[in-house]
Amino acid sequence: MTAPLLEVAGLDVRFAMRGGPVHAVRGLSFEVAAGETVGIVGESGSGKSQAVLALMGLLADNGRASGAARFEGQDLFTLDEAALRGVRGTRIAMVFQDPMTSLNPYLTIGRQMGLVLRAHRGLSAREARRECAAMLEAVGIPEATRRLDMYPHEFSGGMRQRVMIASAMSCRPSLLIADEPTTALDVTVQAQILALMRDLRSRFGTAIILISHDLAVVAGLADRVLVMQQGECREAGTAEQVFYSPRDPYTRALLAAVPRLDGPPPRSPAPRTSPGGGDGGPRALLQADTLCVDFPVRSGALFGRERRLQALAGVSFAVVPGEVLGVVGESGCGKSTLGRALLRLVPVTAGRLSFLGRDVTTVAGPEFDVLRRDLQIVFQDPLASLNPRMTVRDIVAEPLDTFEPELGAGERSKQGRTRPVTHESLSAPVLGRTMPARSHCPGPDHPSAAGGLRRGGECTRCLGAGADPAVAARAAPAARPLARLHRA
Ligand SMILES: Nc1ncnc2c1ncn2[C@@H]1O[C@H](COP(=O)(O)OP(=O)(O)OP(=O)(O)O)[C@@H](O)[C@H]1O
Ligand SMILES: [Mg+2]
Repeated sequence: MTAPLLEVAGLDVRFAMRGGPVHAVRGLSFEVAAGETVGIVGESGSGKSQAVLALMGLLADNGRASGAARFEGQDLFTLDEAALRGVRGTRIAMVFQDPMTSLNPYLTIGRQMGLVLRAHRGLSAREARRECAAMLEAVGIPEATRRLDMYPHEFSGGMRQRVMIASAMSCRPSLLIADEPTTALDVTVQAQILALMRDLRSRFGTAIILISHDLAVVAGLADRVLVMQQGECREAGTAEQVFYSPRDPYTRALLAAVPRLDGPPPRSPAPRTSPGGGDGGPRALLQADTLCVDFPVRSGALFGRERRLQALAGVSFAVVPGEVLGVVGESGCGKSTLGRALLRLVPVTAGRLSFLGRDVTTVAGPEFDVLRRDLQIVFQDPLASLNPRMTVRDIVAEPLDTFEPELGAGERSKQGRTRPVTHESLSAPVLGRTMPARSHCPGPDHPSAAGGLRRGGECTRCLGAGADPAVAARAAPAARPLARLHRA
């Protein structure tokens, strides 16, 4: 029998913290055969990302890994940094959880992809450019040669994710590690990325470790599946066995928590008759009438003519108390702009918007402060909206400090930071599992550190403000299914 491509035995990952170590991965053992796809699923913070980052020697400075990891006959944990760098990028490639933080915004796509090829395959600049264009074409990016000179922000989210995969595959690695490669992508783009990975696997025979909170994504690609919880492997088996006859109660709970379109409605609709509440029904909490938002865009050169790009073209709806309104649509259709307009984070160009009968577009002074407390938003990208220099406890308690000024400063810092409402009762149901109160948010320098926990922290902060409706832009996709249900 041939030896597996990757053999991990008794992997342990610990992080040194002021309040005691965090044991993120506990005795994890698994194998990946050549050309095989292994899926890793599990709740947020279960150690999925840290397990693979440990294999790549990419843990944060306070992290330590122990155990054994053999890859193509070499022990990854005893290799020196130079040898490990040789393996990374050429034999093992990784696609990170967030493509925007892993692409350099100052370099054109062609230049950053070319740097990888020149460093790892010793190609000349001209050869590297030709190879980059071929790889972009292989991942389905049209007009590849022209696009080599474009910058990451000029690509859509799905295209950036393809660039990451193209770049990872350009050195023909024998193992591709993809950590949440389709999080925050449209279902249509997600399907394209998965088809692309399937195609690359059959074309180049690459083995894949696919990490995803989305069980459907893993079910569609993986040969074998590993289920993790709190750093441990709860169950491992073929995709068919794990998904169709799960043995572990945790796997069963995970599968049962997946929302199904063909199942019974998850909740009965809030009672309503008319948005105005004229015939006895509840009065609308939030009401939009033909809301329009335009953005100025300059065409061509520096002094080019200014045009208006219409992001919202006459949107009308009403939300009654207790109701959940879902806004869905393809990438770029205006969903996030709508959320931002509701909070006056972008100016409304035309139309009417009222919250409890008050005109949101004109409200000012103390009334505006009340509005800011009662309407809260959970942003699409938690990495960009949580301050990496603040502890989780301070982030969660911040709204109390802002919106309960009647508490004296000393009293606020004493009570506000220890009040059970901010930490225990809010964090526990939202996060599923509380973070150490003193731990800092994983910063942008930890591209994959527990993405779902960051999201949970942000939802908690919004609820801490005592918000009435919370406007959630893509709150759920980056979170595990169990956490999604907690939040609903
Ligand atoms: N630098 C760090 N210092 C301390 N603890 C950390 C650090 N990085 C990660 N952790 C902790 O390690 C645990 C595992 O995190 P990991 O990123 O592997 O989760 P995950 O399963 O990938 O979650 P998600 O699905 O949310 O991405 C979490 O409890 C996290 O808070
Ligand atoms: Mg992760």
